[in-house]
Amino acid sequence: MKMEKLNYILDRRSIRRYTSQKIGNKEMKAILTAAMYAPSAVNMQPWHFVVIDDPFLMEKIMEIHPHARMLQTTSHAVVVCGDEQLQHDDGYWVVDCGAATQNILLAAQTLGLGSCWVGLHPREERKRSFSRLLHLPSHVKPFALVALGYPEEQKPRPERFHAEKVRSNGWEKPFFQE
Ligand SMILES: Cc1cc2nc3c(=O)[nH]c(=O)nc-3n(C[C@H](O)[C@H](O)[C@H](O)COP(=O)(O)O)c2cc1C
Repeated sequence: MKMEKLNYILDRRSIRRYTSQKIGNKEMKAILTAAMYAPSAVNMQPWHFVVIDDPFLMEKIMEIHPHARMLQTTSHAVVVCGDEQLQHDDGYWVVDCGAATQNILLAAQTLGLGSCWVGLHPREERKRSFSRLLHLPSHVKPFALVALGYPEEQKPRPERFHAEKVRSNGWEKPFFQE
């Protein structure tokens, strides 16, 4: 049934424990291809991706980010970056990078991998630390870190559909009637 194809979206969870198995370059290319197929304003594709697989750098990241302990077991991480010189207009790089980041999470899920979005934007201090650590040029802004690896934990699908969040033709009326 066609609806079942949505399962890979609904069953994606943030994974924070990974096995020691390393992700191959073929899978990494597939994941980053998916990222680059994300929609972007005026199709400007204002993104760059910094792949991290150096344990020393993973350690450094854990020192500067308070919520990135999952990097202890991660195979790879990707820092999604936005390019202010490529974006359609002020602020668009953030939205475009959000779409690319979500594509990474869903591509990983499709390939049987686990992932976790670790926030950088909009925290300026974190962004500055990452820019310094990765030697980013000043027009390239770190947006998010995505941890990737083979999952060591499984998480059940929570209930997240809430009919009352959906309105019909304006705010007054619910779209889904009881
Ligand atoms: C903008 C953003 C920032 C996040 N930052 C972190 C983070 O720093 N560390 C972390 O472990 N998870 C982080 N997450 C993951 C969320 O905690 C997770 O998506 C949320 O709890 C829902 O769980 P699920 O992804 O398993 O559905 C972030 C997610 C988003 C979208």
